[in-house]
Amino acid sequence: MKKNLGPLPAVCPMPVLMIGTYDENGKVDVMNAAWGQICDTDKIYISLSDDHKTVLNFLKTKAFTVGLADVDHLSEADWFGTVSGNDTEDKFERTGMHAVESEFVKAPVIEEFPLTMECELIRVLETDGVYAVMGKIVNVKAEESILNAEGKVDITKANLTLFDQFGNAYYRIGDKLANAWEVWAEKFG
Ligand SMILES: Cc1cc2nc3c(=O)[nH]c(=O)nc-3n(C[C@H](O)[C@H](O)[C@H](O)COP(=O)(O)O)c2cc1C
Repeated sequence: MKKNLGPLPAVCPMPVLMIGTYDENGKVDVMNAAWGQICDTDKIYISLSDDHKTVLNFLKTKAFTVGLADVDHLSEADWFGTVSGNDTEDKFERTGMHAVESEFVKAPVIEEFPLTMECELIRVLETDGVYAVMGKIVNVKAEESILNAEGKVDITKANLTLFDQFGNAYYRIGDKLANAWEVWAEKFG
């Protein structure tokens, strides 16, 4: 028996994205965004309220970074999603984290996050006070420790987090089940 729950954002889990920006004076801000996903293979889409400091920043710089939060930095990630750079001047500094400017875009790469996309702002669509923001991924920076022998990202090494919007909770990525485009053969091959 199924129940109707009404219109909900029911894609689950969501990512824990760390959006890094500079303001007009080069001050770093980072916010937490779970409402984001990949478009095509080289673009990222994120749904953002228009009053965030992050949004005011990247509308000026036309750039942002997107780090993936790992388990070791979960408290920092949650802080970035709770406090705003609009009213907490030292939001980033209070975490003790470190930022370096991207070589590719005018936005900070947060050193402690293991995987970061460096993005140019390419489109902002307004939908009822929420922006649908699209960035072009011009580079991805990864800690060497999360790469496998072929130089590809191995998510089991990155210790990444996920967000459950039904329960407002964070999870770690669990066990690998099978290879995609192959497991079908166990039943239908
Ligand atoms: C788990 C989590 C997920 C969030 N996801 C989003 C999101 O997808 N879009 C959004 O606009 N705000 C989201 N927020 C809220 C912002 O991160 C929060 O308002 C933050 O303080 C904005 O920071 P800023 O004003 O310094 O940019 C999320 C917060 C948390 C804790």
